Amino acid sequence: DWTMAEVLETQLKLVAEQVGPEEHAICALSGGVDSTVAATLIHRVLGDRLHCVFVDHGLLRYKEAERVMATFTEHLHLPVTLVDDSAKMLAKLKGLTDPEAKRKCIGGHFIEVFDEYAKKLERELGIKPKFLVQGTLYPDVIESCPPPGSGQKHSHTIKSHHNVGGLPKDLQFKLIEPFRELFKDEVRAIGRLLGVPEAFIRRHPFPGPGMGVRILGDVTVGDRLDVLRAVDEIFIETIKEFGLYDQIWQAFAVFLPIKSVGVQGDQRTHSHVVGLRAVTSGDGMTADWYPFTPDFLRTVSSRICNKVRSVNRVVYDITSKPPSTIEWE
Ligand code: XMP
Repeated sequence: DWTMAEVLETQLKLVAEQVGPEEHAICALSGGVDSTVAATLIHRVLGDRLHCVFVDHGLLRYKEAERVMATFTEHLHLPVTLVDDSAKMLAKLKGLTDPEAKRKCIGGHFIEVFDEYAKKLERELGIKPKFLVQGTLYPDVIESCPPPGSGQKHSHTIKSHHNVGGLPKDLQFKLIEPFRELFKDEVRAIGRLLGVPEAFIRRHPFPGPGMGVRILGDVTVGDRLDVLRAVDEIFIETIKEFGLYDQIWQAFAVFLPIKSVGVQGDQRTHSHVVGLRAVTSGDGMTADWYPFTPDFLRTVSSRICNKVRSVNRVVYDITSKPPSTIEWE
C-alpha cells in the first residue's frame, strides 16, 4: 500500500526527531493490533530504548496472556515484561456492579500497575523513560473528546475509554501516538508493512477492560470468569472453523447475571444464560449484527450447552449500533 508506506516513513522520521538519540520510551501492550503495531513501529526507531509491559489483569480471554506473549517475543522480538496482577485487580472489583464504576476501577488500577512498572525500571535499571507510546486511533480521539460543533455533545460521557487521556498528571510522560489520525484498517496496513504476522493483524479488537465489561454486574461472583472464558473460546473457535472470522469485525460472549430453567439429561436445571455478540463494522463507531446461518447458530449453541456444564441457554444479540453499543457495558 503506497500511501501507508509513506505514512509509515513519515512516522518513523517524526518519532526519531521527537525522541532524539538518547531518551527512552515505555509502552503498555494490550494484545490488540493497535498497541502492538505502535510498539513494533517505535521499536524500529528506538530498539532497546523501548520498554513494553503486558498486564494480565485477570479479565483476559482464555489463554490470552500466553498467546500474545508468544507473538511479542517469538515473532516481533519486542522487549516485553509480563506482569500478572489478576489477584489484586479482582479484589478491587469485588462488589462493583455499575458499568462506569467498573471501568474506572479497571482503568485506575491499570495506571497504578503501569506506574509501578515505570518506577521499577528506574529503581532496578536506572532508566527513566520520558515518552509513552499509545496506539490511539482517530475514532478513539473523537469518541473521547468530540470536536466542538460536531454535534456529539455527550459522547465523551458514553464510556470512559481508559486508554485515552487517562494518565494522571504526575506521570510526566510525553505521548507518542503515531496513529492518532488513522483508522483501524490503515493501522493494519502499517502492521503488514512492519512484518506483524497476518493472523495477529486480523485479530478482532478487544477492549481494555476486557471481560470486566462482558460479565454484567459483579465479575467476581462464583465462577463467572471461567464460564465466560469457556463459552467465548467455543464461540470463537466455531467461527474460525466455519471460515467466518475474517468477515466479522468483533465477536465475543457475554455473561448475563440471571439464571433460567432448562432440562439437561433427565434433570431440570436452573443455570446460567450467555449471550453471543458478533458484528460487522468499519471503525467501531457504527455496527451491524452478523447474520449467521441457522446451522452455525445450532452448532455453536449445542456445543456450548454440551461442554460448559453450568450453561443451559444461549441467546444471540440482534441489535445494531446504534441504538446499542458493541459491548454490553
Ligand atoms: P462500544 O461498546 O462503545 O465499542 O460500541 C466500540 C469499540 O470500542 C471497544 N471498546 C473499548 N476499547 N477500552 C478499549 O480499549 C475501552 O474502555 C473500550 N470500550 C469499548 C469495543 O470493544 C469496540 O471495539
